[in-house]
Amino acid sequence: MAQKLTNVALLALPALPLAGAWGSMGHYTIAYIATSFVSSDTQAYFQDLLGDTSSDYLANVATWADSWRYTDEGGFSKPFHYIDAMDDPPSSCDVDFERDCPEEGCIVSAIANYTNIMLTPSESTASLEVAAKMLVHFLGDIGQPLHCENLELGGNGIDVTYDGEDTNLHSVWDSDIPESITDGSSQSVARTWASSLVSAIETGGYADLAGDWVEGMDVTESQDQAMIWATESNEYVCTAVLVDGVQHVESTDLAGDYTDDAQPVVKVQVAKQGYRLAKWLDGIVEELSKGKGRSKCKPRGKGEEF
Ligand SMILES: *[C@@H]1O[C@H](CO)[C@@H](O)[C@H](O)[C@H]1NC(C)=O
Ligand SMILES: [Zn+2]
Repeated sequence: MAQKLTNVALLALPALPLAGAWGSMGHYTIAYIATSFVSSDTQAYFQDLLGDTSSDYLANVATWADSWRYTDEGGFSKPFHYIDAMDDPPSSCDVDFERDCPEEGCIVSAIANYTNIMLTPSESTASLEVAAKMLVHFLGDIGQPLHCENLELGGNGIDVTYDGEDTNLHSVWDSDIPESITDGSSQSVARTWASSLVSAIETGGYADLAGDWVEGMDVTESQDQAMIWATESNEYVCTAVLVDGVQHVESTDLAGDYTDDAQPVVKVQVAKQGYRLAKWLDGIVEELSKGKGRSKCKPRGKGEEF
C-alpha cells in the first residue's frame, strides 16, 4: 500500500527532479517534425501500428517512455534514456560505448534494440508498439547534450538559478531553454514550433545541412548510428553547456546570455533529431518491405524448412 501511494505521488509531480528528458514540449516538437517528413508508407505503417489515424500519431506517443519508466513494468527501461559519458568537460568530451554503456543498457543499446525489434516482423504487435514508442522518444533524448554526459548525473546534480528560480542544469536544458524559444510548453505550441523548424529544414537556415544529418543512415547498423548521434550531442557539453565550466553555470542566472547562446544549439538539435526520426522510421518501413519482397520472390532452396 505504501509503495502504491508513493508511486501515485511520484506520478502526480509535474516535474521530477531526475525526470531527465527533453521536456514534453521538446519531444512533441521532434515528433511533429518527423510527421512532416515521413513517407506516406511510413505514416500508414505507424498509424496502423499505433492505432491512431490522426496527424498527432507520433506526438501522442512521444512522451510515453517517460511515464513507463516509473511503472513496475517499465522500470527496467530507466537507463535507456541516456548514456553516461565518463569524459571530462569542458576540457574533453567523448563517448565510448564499451566504457559508458553498462550491462543494464543505455540509450545507444536501447535504440539498437528497439530498432531490431521493429525489424523483426514475428514480434507481437504489443512489442512492436512499445518499440515504436521507445524509438520516437529516444531519438529525441539522444539529441539533448546532457543525456550523453555522466557529470553530476547529466547535470541533474548541478544546482543553478533560472530567472530567479532554483533548478538544476539538466532541467534548464530539458525545458527552460526550449520553452524560452516558444514561450510555452503545450502540444499546440510544439506544433507551431515544429512547423517553423520544418520550414528551416526545407528552405531556410538548415536546408544545406539536413542532407548531412542523415548521411549514410542505415537502420541495420543501428548501434553505430546511435553512437554517431550520441557523440555529436555529447560534444555540445564541451562547446556549449559547460563551455565556461561548472562554476560559471552555478554562479550566473542562466535565463540571460547563457540562454541566448544556448537557443541555437537547442533549435538545431531538435530540428536534427526530428528529421532523423523521420528518416529512421522510413528506413525501418523500407527494410520491412524489402524483407516482404524477398520472402515472396526467393526461390525455396532444397532442404530449406519453414
Ligand atoms: C530490448 O527490449 C526488450 C523489450 O522492451 C527488453 O525486454 C530487453 O531487455 C531489451 N534488451 C536490451 C539489450 O536492451
Ligand atoms: Zn526520456
